[in-house]
Amino acid sequence: MKKVPNGDDSTAPESARQSEIRNPKSEIRNTAVVLLAAGKGTRMISARPKLLHDLAGRPLGVWIVGTALALRPGRLVVVVGHGREEFEAAVRSRFPGAPVSFALQREQLGTGHALRCGLARVPRSARRVLVLYGDTPLVPVGLLRTLAARPRRRAAPLAMVVSTLDDPAVYGRIVRDASGRVVRIVEHRDASPAERAIREVNPGIYSFDAAFLRRAVRRLGRRNAQGEFYLTDLVALAAAEGGVCDVAAPFDDLAGVNMREDLAALEERCTDRIRRGWMLRGVTIRAPATVRIEAEAVLAPDVEIGPGAQILGRTRVGRGSSIGAGSILRDVDVGMNVEILPYVVAEGSTIADGARVGPFARVRPGTEVGRDVHLGNFVETKKTVLLEGAKANHLAYLGDGVIGRRTNVGAGTIFCNYDGRAKHRTVLGDDVFVGSDSQLVAPVTVGDGAYIASGSTVTDDVPPDALAVARARQVNKPGYMRRLRDRTRRGAGGA
Ligand code: UD1
Ligand code: CA
Repeated sequence: MKKVPNGDDSTAPESARQSEIRNPKSEIRNTAVVLLAAGKGTRMISARPKLLHDLAGRPLGVWIVGTALALRPGRLVVVVGHGREEFEAAVRSRFPGAPVSFALQREQLGTGHALRCGLARVPRSARRVLVLYGDTPLVPVGLLRTLAARPRRRAAPLAMVVSTLDDPAVYGRIVRDASGRVVRIVEHRDASPAERAIREVNPGIYSFDAAFLRRAVRRLGRRNAQGEFYLTDLVALAAAEGGVCDVAAPFDDLAGVNMREDLAALEERCTDRIRRGWMLRGVTIRAPATVRIEAEAVLAPDVEIGPGAQILGRTRVGRGSSIGAGSILRDVDVGMNVEILPYVVAEGSTIADGARVGPFARVRPGTEVGRDVHLGNFVETKKTVLLEGAKANHLAYLGDGVIGRRTNVGAGTIFCNYDGRAKHRTVLGDDVFVGSDSQLVAPVTVGDGAYIASGSTVTDDVPPDALAVARARQVNKPGYMRRLRDRTRRGAGGA
C-alpha cells in the first residue's frame, strides 16, 4: 500500500507530487513562508480554537501547513497564539520531524501584528516571504509556486493572488486606480457601499520582497473598524513603492473558514476531491455522494465501497477488499480480499486478509482479526485476538481474549472479562469448540481441542481435548405434566 510522505498534499494527484519533488525551484530556497495561525476564530462560536476544528479528518489549520511543506521553502514559520500548544502538537503529530518553526503572537492584535511576530523567525538570508493564512485549507501548492516565481519579472515588492466572486461576502476588496493598478485593499468592515460593490477580493496569499516587508511592517497602524493591525495595509505601501503584481486565480479552492458554515462547505468540496482521487486510482465507490473518506485514509486498487460507508482516520484498505453499505471504519487496518459486510462499526483494529466481518458487527479498539476469520452479526469484540480461521458467527461479546486457530465460538457466547474491579483474560486454544450460550468467566484458559457443552458457565481452566460440561444436569419427570393437568381438571369439576 502507498505511504503518504510527510509534508505532502495527499489529495494531489500522484503525478503532480512526483514532479514537485523532481524540479525544486531555486527561488523556493530563498523564500521563507510565514503562516498566520494565532487567531481565536471568534466567529466559530466555539471553545475550541478555529484551526483545530476538524476538516475531513485533519485539523483545519494543519492542511495548509502540509501545502507549505510540500513547497519545500527555506524556512516555514507558523505564528501561533490562541490554543498554541494543541495546535503545535497537531502539526508535530501529522508531520513528525518536519522543518517547522513556531513563533508566538502573545496577543492577537491582527494579521499585520501576527506577521511581524513571524518575521522575527525569518532568516536574514531570505529574499522573499510568502505569507499565508491558516484558515484557507485548500490552497493548491501550484498556485503558491507560480506566485513565488512571479515578481522576478518586475521590481514589485509584492505579488499577490486576486479572485473575482459573484458574492464577495466578507472578503477584503481589491481597490484599483483608473489605469487598473492595484492600489490598496479595503477590509469588508471598513468598506464604503461603493467599495462593497467591488467583486474582486483578496484570498490572502502574498509574496513579499523581504527587505520591503521588514521595513513596511513597522509602519502599520490600527486605525480601522476592528482596531487591529491589518496585514492588508501593506498593499498600499507596496503600491507606493514600486507596485503590486497581481495574479488572478479562481476562488474555489481559496476560500477561508470563518464560520461553521464555511467549514461544512469546504469539507464537502474536499471530500468530493478525495473520492474522485481514489476513483482515479482504481477504487469503486457506489453512490459516491453518500460516502465519506477522510484525508488520511489510504485505499488500494479494486477496493469497493458501498453507499453510506465512512472511511475515517488513518484507515488503510488493501486490494480487493469491500466495505459494505453504512459501515464505519476509523483507524482500521484492513488487509486484502477482506469482506466487510454492511453496518459494521470498527475502530483501532486490524483485519487480516480474507476475513469476513458483519453485517452488524462491532469491532472495538485492540481487536486483531486474523486471516480468514469470520465475525458475524451482533458480535462485539474488544482487545481480542482471533487467530487464523477462527469463527464467531452470531451474537457474542468477546473482550480481552485470545481465540485460537479454527476455534468456533457458538452463538450467545460471552467472555465475562470484568469482575467489577478489574479486567481479566480468556484464552481459547486451537480447534476449541464453544457451545452456544456459554459464559467464560475470566481469567480462564481452555486447552487445544477442548469442547465446551452448550449453556456452560466455565469458571475453571479446561485441559486440552477435554469435554467441559458446566451446567445443571437435566432431570426428566415422566408423566408429570399429564398428572398435573388431570388434577387441575378434577379440582375445577368439583367446584
Ligand atoms: C483576512 C484578510 C482579508 C481576506 C481574508 C481572506 C486581513 C486584515 N484581512 O480577513 O482581506 O479577504 O483574510 O481569507 O488580513 N490571525 C493571527 N493573529 C491575529 C489575527 C489573525 O494569527 O491577530 C490569523 C488567523 O488565525 C487566521 C488568519 O490570520 O488564520 C486570518 O485572520 P482572520 O481574522 O480570519 O482574517 P479575515 O477577517 O478572514
Ligand atoms: Ca479568515
